[in-house]
Amino acid sequence: MTATNHRSPFPLELWSEAVYSRRSIPATLAAGAYAPEAAAPAPAEPAVPVALPDERRFPLVAPPLRLRPAGAGPADPSVLAALLHYSYGLLQHDLTPGGWPLHRAVASARCRYPSELSLVVPAAADGHRPAAVYRFDPVHHQLALLHRAVDGTAADGAALDGTAADGAAAEPAGGPGSARFLVITSRFARTAQLYGDYAPRLCAQEAGMLLGAVHLVAAALGLRTRPGRDRETLLELCDGWTPGEAEHPMGYLEIDSAAEPGAPVPWLPPELAAVLRARHSGAAIFDPAPVAAPAALLVDLGAALAAAPFADFSCHLLVRRVTGAPPGHYVHTGERLESVRAGDPLPMLEQIGQTEGRVSLNFRSVACTAYLAVRRGSALARFGADAFRQVHLVAGAAAHLVSVVAARHGLSARVHNGYDAATAERLLQLAPDEETVLFQVAIGAAGPAAGFRLPVVF
Ligand SMILES: Cc1cc2nc3c(=O)[nH]c(=O)nc-3n(C[C@H](O)[C@H](O)[C@H](O)COP(=O)(O)O)c2cc1C
Repeated sequence: MTATNHRSPFPLELWSEAVYSRRSIPATLAAGAYAPEAAAPAPAEPAVPVALPDERRFPLVAPPLRLRPAGAGPADPSVLAALLHYSYGLLQHDLTPGGWPLHRAVASARCRYPSELSLVVPAAADGHRPAAVYRFDPVHHQLALLHRAVDGTAADGAALDGTAADGAAAEPAGGPGSARFLVITSRFARTAQLYGDYAPRLCAQEAGMLLGAVHLVAAALGLRTRPGRDRETLLELCDGWTPGEAEHPMGYLEIDSAAEPGAPVPWLPPELAAVLRARHSGAAIFDPAPVAAPAALLVDLGAALAAAPFADFSCHLLVRRVTGAPPGHYVHTGERLESVRAGDPLPMLEQIGQTEGRVSLNFRSVACTAYLAVRRGSALARFGADAFRQVHLVAGAAAHLVSVVAARHGLSARVHNGYDAATAERLLQLAPDEETVLFQVAIGAAGPAAGFRLPVVF
């Protein structure tokens, strides 16, 4: 596969090389060594960004322990801090020797965290070209000014003026309007160091998960969001600050104001902040205790997926151990999961969930496994190479919701790419040449690694 570029980062071969097979994963990955093609030319890309500009940094206020509607918009310092921290902040420190120490609010393959989250303040009230761009730095719980328009529409820190004394980012002084966008970009190189040409697939999945995270946390804060995947808008929002091929535009959400009082509230668990702090993907090998999940897991999955940022996906759930739900194949319809076939799905799970001919995780002890599918055929016809980004955003956002629902019931959710896409299509009876599975998420009573995870407090 050839190198990607900024305007067209997703070659069409990715479907065959990274979704229908895992040919693009380098053999070095098994040993955790650098991918041969990525190691040589570029200096090691740190898993955590360190090279942010120092001179214009804005400390964020301490994130709250609870997420509640604040009645204020995203320019409010406490709303902004809570939104960023619980969407993509550093939430756990794992001190297990040899492990991956830093864990954020969303899952990431081998904790590489290639996604970046930036606050974009448009130059014109109804436009998308940025006046100022601030990058979220989760390690220091700060924003760093990354870019400002040269025409003087925004002075230094225009969107955050009022920072000063207490160090908190505050309401824009004389900003052009109240529109704020959170823009998701991805540094493929960070993941490519381990995964080589497979990186764009993981980066696209993770961008979607991050979009789902922002959407959910914003709702808990009482904000109205408009998640977006339109390519032209995205490229306008990224104008002037994503040069070269280092960082790829992936998706955005417009976060414009506090929602109207009485507006319908999407699915939210009662203590979302605590749930997000507890969310995890289990230990290196996913081998949960064979414990039945509560019936409410399916109720919550149904409601959460109905409130996903984008609706054009389907969720197939293979249930083994859920109280009150006979084992079988369920499909998400409306706000519920409905049984389409009864019977133990273990043989299906072990045929679908394979990595190079071996079963990927202990499906014998999972509670259930979700498969998120999209309409790949129609998307390719409509968007060409950009379909890859678009449909991964859709499925990724839903996958994050699945992981949050699991955490809300004290369970672990493991996104695992060790599955055979063609077998999944056949056994789940997806529409031939149209639907494709993009996520396999196993849910079970698995603990995190070794037990040294500490909450991070700012
Ligand atoms: C897109 C994606 C793909 C993943 N693929 C695999 C996989 O193939 N095998 C595996 O064991 N874990 C996989 N993981 C799990 C991650 O390694 C795990 O989420 C990471 O260790 C972060 O842990 P945490 O969610 O507990 O913070 C994947 C995660 C993501 C987000």
